[in-house]
Amino acid sequence: MSDYDIRGEISYRKSRIDRILKDMLPVPQGYASTVIEAMNYSVEAGGKRLRPMLMSECYHLFADEGTDYVPEETLRSYMGAIECIHTYSLVHDDLPAMDNDMLRRGMPTTHAKYGEAIAILAGDGLLNYAMELVSRAVASGSAEDMPRLARAQRLIFDRSGIYGMIGGQCADVEAEDGKGTLDADLLGYIHRNKTAALIIASMLSGAILGGADEDDQGVVALIAMRLGVAFQIRDDILDIEGSEDTLGKPIGSDEKNDKLTYVAVHGMEKARQDVETMTAEAHDLLEHLPGDKTFLHELFDELVTREN
Ligand code: IPE
Ligand code: IPE
Ligand code: MG
Ligand code: MG
Ligand code: MG
Repeated sequence: MSDYDIRGEISYRKSRIDRILKDMLPVPQGYASTVIEAMNYSVEAGGKRLRPMLMSECYHLFADEGTDYVPEETLRSYMGAIECIHTYSLVHDDLPAMDNDMLRRGMPTTHAKYGEAIAILAGDGLLNYAMELVSRAVASGSAEDMPRLARAQRLIFDRSGIYGMIGGQCADVEAEDGKGTLDADLLGYIHRNKTAALIIASMLSGAILGGADEDDQGVVALIAMRLGVAFQIRDDILDIEGSEDTLGKPIGSDEKNDKLTYVAVHGMEKARQDVETMTAEAHDLLEHLPGDKTFLHELFDELVTREN
């Protein structure tokens, strides 16, 4: 379509986020060294850094056009926090009691490397550390930034908890027991919550910190819901036809666990179509927002056909 080097832009942004995270992670010390090492191992193993990338991009859509934004240093703390929460969700998702997987981000899963007890603690530690990063940013924020800092904080912790990711993971695990029930409503709840909720938290908190008004926040939430659900449908597709080397995680995990997936409920053909339809809707909605949206449009298209 254009000369725009989206792969190059993604990898540039990813390396900037990697550096931000590296500077932010706790230093192993004393008797807590092992759990801190396991936390850092899980985060530094890699990953696409999609959530902080989306947060930063949504912040800039608004901050670059207006005057009502929080400092970039504050944004960075929230970016670190969302990646810590996402990484903890993966560490726990891989545990023997959950999906029981041994490979993540191309490396042995945290429980495979450090044992189950330390992996549980590392996940807990990452969630707590996310709270620490955000509370420190809130505590040092200016009085006029406070409403936006508090709103973004609440959003992140609501959507990663029982009103979002944890709720979705609960339903995902319980759906394994209803083997053979291809319940489309339940599947919708699982996708909206276990995955889209954190994407919404990322994009919407970025927009809020960047100074978006209520109307634009509503549009961002609609975009993020479509993108988040499409992202999980693609994940379900890749679990069947992806490559372990490229994905950096095992394929066939869903089948092994009798998961309720989009492909199981709707079939491969519709799964592909719906990723495209939801992404097209996200593109249309994006046009209603201000700022330079080139990167986001290109990124959405990359996600439709992503192989990892
Ligand atoms: C994996 O998320 C879990 C899902 C919600 C599908 P990602 O595919 O973003 O994982 P990383 O961060 O790149 O490892
Ligand atoms: C997990 O969904 C979403 C999370 C909240 C971690 P999956 O179990 O499908 O994620 P992967 O495929 O292991 O990354
Ligand atoms: Mg899972
Ligand atoms: Mg899993
Ligand atoms: Mg999966």
